[in-house]
Amino acid sequence: MNKEKTASAFLAVMVLAFVCSVLVTGAAVGLRPRQEANRTLDQKKNILRAAGLYQGKEGTGKGGDVDTLFQQVETKIIRLADGSFVPPEELDPATFHQLRSTLDNTTSRKLSKEEDKAGLGRQEKFSMVYLVNKGGQLDKVILPIRGKGLWSTMYGYVALAADLSTISGITFYEHGETPGLGGDIANPDWQAGWQGKQLYAPDNPEGLEGQPVLEIVKGHGTGPYQVDGVSGATLTMNGVNNLMQFWFGEHGFGPFLQRYKGFLEK
Ligand SMILES: Cc1cc2nc3c(=O)[nH]c(=O)nc-3n(C[C@H](O)[C@H](O)[C@H](O)COP(=O)(O)O)c2cc1C
Repeated sequence: MNKEKTASAFLAVMVLAFVCSVLVTGAAVGLRPRQEANRTLDQKKNILRAAGLYQGKEGTGKGGDVDTLFQQVETKIIRLADGSFVPPEELDPATFHQLRSTLDNTTSRKLSKEEDKAGLGRQEKFSMVYLVNKGGQLDKVILPIRGKGLWSTMYGYVALAADLSTISGITFYEHGETPGLGGDIANPDWQAGWQGKQLYAPDNPEGLEGQPVLEIVKGHGTGPYQVDGVSGATLTMNGVNNLMQFWFGEHGFGPFLQRYKGFLEK
């Protein structure tokens, strides 16, 4: 009798476990497309936010329809080594996953210690770039950036004005820095301090053309090449400085910006 009870209880547990596993798997698989769609929407929102084209406050649902606003953005892929555009037949922006491409030897490369200012380990060979045109002319270029802070990899976007040097906006949308300290990189007030600053100094006497001169300084930044540092967060600020040096230098978007500038000036 006892044996029978144990067997039926065991059977009931097995059936319940099976039903639950089917439900959980079904939910995970069924929700994946929705998660993917949400991620894409969020990414579009961050790109628009960097360019100042989306003003909505998080969670309010205000700020406009993201997909409609994103219609003014042209998405392209560039080859980082020479800054050339890659035709969509070769790499389709609709399916290209930039971060995932860093896991593949053919689409990424290992960075040497001297090169790896942003602490990435590997770097993708191709990057997304987002162009906003107004009245048939380039208005803004939005570029993805990332790099190591104190505790985490910080992910963001930088929007440049048509001169390809003036910062029109910056966002950090994912990081693991401490709220109130390094976490202030996601604070819109701190981000607003970047607007109008200059990445490059074309007539720099040290011949720094092509290498960014903009930097975050401790305390209050003055002039076009300095941004205010967040106090108590020097290590995170160093990380942001390093990633800006990396992404806007010769191994990042430097070749693209120089090439594109030449094209625009023609
Ligand atoms: C719990 C804890 C969390 C911290 N988080 C950060 C951080 O996110 N970013 C950062 O730069 N410094 C952080 N710090 C402070 C650093 O250890 C370091 O003191 C600071 O970067 C120095 O900045 P300051 O020269 O502007 O004071 C944290 C410290 C503690 C104790």
